[in-house]
Amino acid sequence: MLVLTPRKVKHILFGLTVISILYIFGVFHHAFESDFYDDFRYPYEGDIDAFVQKLKNNITPDVSPINSYQFQYRKNCSQKCMGVQNLRVVYLVKTSPENFDRRIAIRSTWGYEHRFSDVEIRTVFLIGVRATEGLQKLINEESHKFSDIVQANFSDTYYNNTYKTMMGMKWVVKFCPNSKFYMFVDDDYYVSTKNVLRFIRYPTKYPQYLKEPMANVKALLRKPFQLMDFELQDDARLYSGYAFKSAPHRHYFSKWYVPLKEYPYHMWPPYVTAGAYILSRSALIDMYYSSFYTRHFRFDDIYVGLLAFKAKIEPLHCEEFYFYKKTYNKLDYEYTIASHGYGDPHELLTVWTEQKSLGNA
Ligand SMILES: *[C@@H]1O[C@H](CO)[C@@H](O)[C@H](O)[C@H]1NC(C)=O
Ligand SMILES: *[C@@H]1O[C@H](CO)[C@@H](O)[C@H](O)[C@H]1NC(C)=O
Ligand SMILES: *[C@@H]1O[C@H](CO)[C@@H](O)[C@H](O)[C@H]1NC(C)=O
Repeated sequence: MLVLTPRKVKHILFGLTVISILYIFGVFHHAFESDFYDDFRYPYEGDIDAFVQKLKNNITPDVSPINSYQFQYRKNCSQKCMGVQNLRVVYLVKTSPENFDRRIAIRSTWGYEHRFSDVEIRTVFLIGVRATEGLQKLINEESHKFSDIVQANFSDTYYNNTYKTMMGMKWVVKFCPNSKFYMFVDDDYYVSTKNVLRFIRYPTKYPQYLKEPMANVKALLRKPFQLMDFELQDDARLYSGYAFKSAPHRHYFSKWYVPLKEYPYHMWPPYVTAGAYILSRSALIDMYYSSFYTRHFRFDDIYVGLLAFKAKIEPLHCEEFYFYKKTYNKLDYEYTIASHGYGDPHELLTVWTEQKSLGNA
């Protein structure tokens, strides 16, 4: 017969507490995860190459898309890239409607389109909508004045960042497909346009190639077999930034908690942190069309990683994209491409101006 003595009750309570704590920290979740390397499948389940090729060529694929991003543009900046010859980089800045002062600082620093007389650069700001009409009126005025706002009718919130990114990709495909490279970047970043341009010349050799004597660089360039496809070919696929191989958060109180139902694998696909990354035109186009066969996911860095994985594009890691704030010292930013932590427009202006005068920005 079961008699609950106080001692037994204590044991049972202790056991339940341990189980709850393990549960909260996601231990059981981990136990039920599937192996990413062996079992990874994410809808659409199957090879999508042929469908992507068809969509690219405006042919109806055999299997209908399982996903699509239907936005209504409020601002489409349709003239931004039109007719621009030799467009090299387009910045797609992910910003929020109320961050007027950050956009002002970006327009006069790294987003400045006339930074170099011989390189064509363009900058657009990506935003969604907020319910407040006063704010929209100010956005309308800003857009009228600068013609650099791309806005669509999804609500502008943190968990809608994937919509913001996909709106950007769709905009590129529709209105600005004539650039060689595209950089997605948050509005609280420092960016060196000079280093972006140096990076896209030889992505796999950056920044080492800048440290070599000129003779070695010439020798290096005489041996093109060492270079990757995208350093040689116009249609090469580059997806680069600070790359991660990491696991989903399974403890309940994490901002990034993900239930198994939403994503069952023990690892994320390889991805690049979403704060700052560069895509070549062909990578962006393939990833955009892959989105028609990739179920929506709310974290934008993971979703972009999923698109790359489906399109069979491997991320290229580069240390010089800092997803945290790189401690500022004027001599330490020589090769920095991007650094997080510049949400204060005055600080951005000061640092960028100093780096520009040193020849680093
Ligand atoms: C945005 O526009 C699309 C296309 O017109 C429409 O289907 C959708 O309901 C709109 N969404 C919102 C939130 O207004
Ligand atoms: C872009 O926006 C302008 C101004 O609102 C509009 O007249 C035009 O039809 C839009 N273009 C496309 C292709 O949606
Ligand atoms: C994302 O945007 C859509 C469309 O505006 C909206 O229905 C939805 O509630 C938003 N989601 C979040 C998490 O804000």
